[in-house]
Amino acid sequence: MTEGHTLIEVSGLAKDYGNGGSGIPVLRDINLRVHKCEMVAITGPSGCGKSTLLFILGLFLSPSKGQYLFEGENVLVLKRSAQAQFRRNQVGFVFQSSELLENSTVYENVEFPLIYAGVSRRKRAELITSALELVNLRHRIRHPANLLSGGEKQRVAVARALVNRPQVILADEPTGQLDRKNTQFIMDHFRKIVNRSDTALVVVTHDPEVAARCDRVYSLDDGILKEV
Ligand SMILES: Nc1ncnc2c1ncn2[C@@H]1O[C@H](COP(=O)(O)OP(=O)(O)O)[C@@H](O)[C@H]1O
Ligand SMILES: [Mg+2]
Repeated sequence: MTEGHTLIEVSGLAKDYGNGGSGIPVLRDINLRVHKCEMVAITGPSGCGKSTLLFILGLFLSPSKGQYLFEGENVLVLKRSAQAQFRRNQVGFVFQSSELLENSTVYENVEFPLIYAGVSRRKRAELITSALELVNLRHRIRHPANLLSGGEKQRVAVARALVNRPQVILADEPTGQLDRKNTQFIMDHFRKIVNRSDTALVVVTHDPEVAARCDRVYSLDDGILKEV
């Protein structure tokens, strides 16, 4: 197990979707620590709150209570604009359903977070090409997204999450539509990126092979996260 520098430290985190604590609790008491250069898997039954937890880690959603430190900084109290900056610069998110811009090309889809982050055109071209090489899709660079297969779309979504060299990649079932070969390929690349660039990966998965390739595995059940 990697005992590197702590990147993420979550304690006593809870979430319910009602207002004013009247809703049904989804996350009840989450404690999670993720180190740099570490790959962590989160497993659990459908509807148990895995996506909710990833959204909170990416600051796409606020918890009902609890603490979240990122490199020792309490990111939950950041202003809206600073939270947006955190999402742009520190986080690479792979959504469960890929969420590509269907009428745009592969290139434009991967370019999107870079434009948002103010990266120059020349630098964008360089970063996009290397991200697409990482997911074995260089040959599809000018392809419209709506003509890709499900697996190719997932790989574009992975490239888009990697392209701005984030400190943490939050991936929601990123291999759910991939065959074994492409799953292994993506996991190998996650490992390379994590080793090379101080990045951490938190991956939600149903696939035991994906979990087995991570450094630590947590299971989420009944609102509680346990290391397995
Ligand atoms: N925006 C929302 N409003 C109300 N309930 C929600 C919302 N999003 C998710 N839920 C509920 O919270 C629970 C956890 O959802 P989710 O985090 O998507 O689970 P998982 O990713 O593990 O399948 C589910 O019961 C789901 O129906
Ligand atoms: Mg989910």
